[in-house]
Amino acid sequence: MPGLGCSTLEDIRALIGDCHRCPLGDTRTTLVFGVGDPHARVVIVGEAPGRNEDLKGEPFVGAAGALLDELLAHAGLTRSEVYIANVLKCRPPGNRDPLPAEIEMCTPFLREQIRVISPEVLVTLGNFATRFVLKTDAPISRLRGRVTRVGRFTVLPIYHPAAAIYDRTKRDVLFADFGVLRGLVGTVGDEAPREGTLF
Ligand code: URA
Repeated sequence: MPGLGCSTLEDIRALIGDCHRCPLGDTRTTLVFGVGDPHARVVIVGEAPGRNEDLKGEPFVGAAGALLDELLAHAGLTRSEVYIANVLKCRPPGNRDPLPAEIEMCTPFLREQIRVISPEVLVTLGNFATRFVLKTDAPISRLRGRVTRVGRFTVLPIYHPAAAIYDRTKRDVLFADFGVLRGLVGTVGDEAPREGTLF
């Protein structure tokens, strides 16, 4: 798919504007664009804003965000060193799953953010982000922790942190997978070309 012709994240934010391309524009409080280093080597892709994110306008600021910060630290990273965005930029009411039409309408902007940032590694959190990047129906339980290559990106699917808040087993798996990220960040480096095919 061709890009949207943006050169910077600010261009993309301006293009999105006060979005009402889908009905979530009527129910959200704040559009959650994404945060972090515009030149990050690692982009973390979540699912959609929850209640706290909708109020604050920033991804992963609730309980799942606190766990994400711990996990990033385990990978030797801080929130300001990576870029964090979601499949959807607006909160689905009641935190329901994103609908196919919403994903189709919203993800060209995420794809453009990834194109402009041009990271080496994409970490996909949970089923929706993983499906978007890997174009697969396989469940995250099968894909997690397995590093793949999509175009010029190294992709690491991981459980969504929200799934692990009350589940000790998943929490241990998440920490192990962020250990894989730690290894990737240490090794990917220069062998990844910065130009090439987009997913
Ligand atoms: N869950 C997500 O997937 N994204 C957020 O921003 C917050 C919670």
